[in-house]
Amino acid sequence: MSKTMIKVKNLRKVYENLVVANDGISIDIKQGDIFGLLGPNGAGKTTFIRQISGLLKPTEGEIYFDGDKDIIKNPEVVTEYISYYGQRLLILDSHRTWEVVYYTGIFRGLSKEESLRQTELLIDIFNLTESRNKLMSKLSGGQKKLVGIMSSLIALRPILILDEPTNDLDPENRKKVWDILNYANEKFNTTIILVTHNVLEADQIVNKVAIIDEGKIIGMGSPAELKSKLGDQVRLEIYLKEQYNSYNFNFSEIGGIVESYEIKPGVWRFLTKKGLVHHIFTHVVSKISLDQIEDFRIITCTLEDVYLALGGVKDGIK
Ligand SMILES: Nc1ncnc2c1ncn2[C@@H]1O[C@H](COP(=O)(O)OP(=O)(O)OP(=O)(O)O)[C@@H](O)[C@H]1O
Ligand SMILES: [Mg+2]
Repeated sequence: MSKTMIKVKNLRKVYENLVVANDGISIDIKQGDIFGLLGPNGAGKTTFIRQISGLLKPTEGEIYFDGDKDIIKNPEVVTEYISYYGQRLLILDSHRTWEVVYYTGIFRGLSKEESLRQTELLIDIFNLTESRNKLMSKLSGGQKKLVGIMSSLIALRPILILDEPTNDLDPENRKKVWDILNYANEKFNTTIILVTHNVLEADQIVNKVAIIDEGKIIGMGSPAELKSKLGDQVRLEIYLKEQYNSYNFNFSEIGGIVESYEIKPGVWRFLTKKGLVHHIFTHVVSKISLDQIEDFRIITCTLEDVYLALGGVKDGIK
């Protein structure tokens, strides 16, 4: 049984403007967990991880690392344990790519040789060799993000916290980030906390997930455990051709739909039981013709559906 790496009890954060951003959060994260934090904009995810990273003082509650290390009373412990990648990047525009990574390594206590070795390795992994001497101000948004991620990976600590690391990255770099997180987790047993809006990717990488909404945890468990709560529910999506976008379905006459809504003009989503997809699709086609449908897909339920079923807001996690 792995030890508890992070224990959070009843964490509460009320900002000066009286916004209650975290409202009694309790979580145990085990060593080696890849723990996902999902929730809509403003749910309190960044507030939560900034408190764990020692960047923000909780209003109430307790946080312990590695058993008994109280990080609210002893915040100096945090830097030994945490590598943090923040949502808002500190852009060091007047520095060169390699310098940003290298000096992060030095600040974390690596020798010059070791910091340079790890810097070159990371530059190579993330294919930034051509940009290694460029000023940060000359990099693209995605490349800047990569430099931020590389800086969180140098002199890696036992806990790696990443706040939306893959936004703005192209699919190839996104995959690279997921691969390196998996590698760190397998090789060093690094505990990873990942805030992401990309539920499909999160589904593949995390072994545990907490769904947070309006500052409270509304569901927690492995993705499979959470999804099993929905039984054999599936999602049917229908994309109408552009000229038929204004078509308005009347669903009251179709049975078996758990939820239905128009995601955007001409894109309809139905949640239903697997066995009823055929029935619903036939009904839709009987109302409009197959010619009016651009595309359709049937997807087994995702963490986003779990989130909706738990009472999350309608427009989902994105
Ligand atoms: N420094 C601050 N002062 C006052 N209110 C804040 C501050 N930072 C965040 N908030 C508020 O606290 C709530 C939670 O914000 P937080 O940034 O933790 O959400 P989030 O889940 O990370 O959202 P997102 O997905 O958009 O990044 C929001 O209502 C936000 O407006
Ligand atoms: Mg955030």
